[in-house]
Amino acid sequence: MKKIAHRGISAQAPENTRAAFGKMVDLSVDWLETDIDMTSDGQLVLIHDSKVDRTSNGNGMVNHNSLLGLQKLDFGQWFDDQYTGERIVTLQWLINFINDHEFNVNFELKTEVKDEQQNFYLMRVHQALHQLNQTSQVIVSSFDVDLLKKYHELMPKIPIGLLIEGKLPTNIIEVAQTVGATYIHPDVSYLTEDQVKFLLSHGLKVNVWTVNEALLAEKLQRWGVHAIFTDFPA
Ligand code: G3P
Ligand code: MG
Repeated sequence: MKKIAHRGISAQAPENTRAAFGKMVDLSVDWLETDIDMTSDGQLVLIHDSKVDRTSNGNGMVNHNSLLGLQKLDFGQWFDDQYTGERIVTLQWLINFINDHEFNVNFELKTEVKDEQQNFYLMRVHQALHQLNQTSQVIVSSFDVDLLKKYHELMPKIPIGLLIEGKLPTNIIEVAQTVGATYIHPDVSYLTEDQVKFLLSHGLKVNVWTVNEALLAEKLQRWGVHAIFTDFPA
């Protein structure tokens, strides 16, 4: 079973920062997950929340701020003083980093931009992912079925992961087929062994979030889960 560093090594460093991704090198972790949003001036940045409030010393929506504005904020001190000075990370920086270290990556499409801006977002993601070395394995995931479907039409060769929050819907196979998903990414809190067997029997692979306990991880491995997202991959 693979272990995917959730937002980088987010138990030990502020999530989605250079520090959190950098720790992967020391810990010999080779899969990471990150969340992609877009600034008001169309730059792709890595941040989980739609607002900067929780993980920086600023406030407001990511998509209402320019990249230059976001780069002035501190994204480390909220986690620990030793990380003061961490800046927002661009997707471009991470792509170079992944290529340098031959990492594998799950990009989560996480944006609230709509309409034309959403099309622009997808196009920018598409352009950026073309720069990844062929050696990296890539998954693109989202909770947003429509966004995922549009992405899959744009870049059909990249495997898709369908993220599910809460209980697995009864029509999960139908939805997976609609978006062309290779993977289902269910919420561990609601997942049962029967559901994993059901998904596997339909040819889907299962990557579960967020698993931070060893005994739980061992159980999921016995169930046949392909990968877990974890804040403690080491
Ligand atoms: O992709 C797995 C996990 O990151 C999904 O939930 O809210 O942490 O982005 P969230
Ligand atoms: Mg995520």
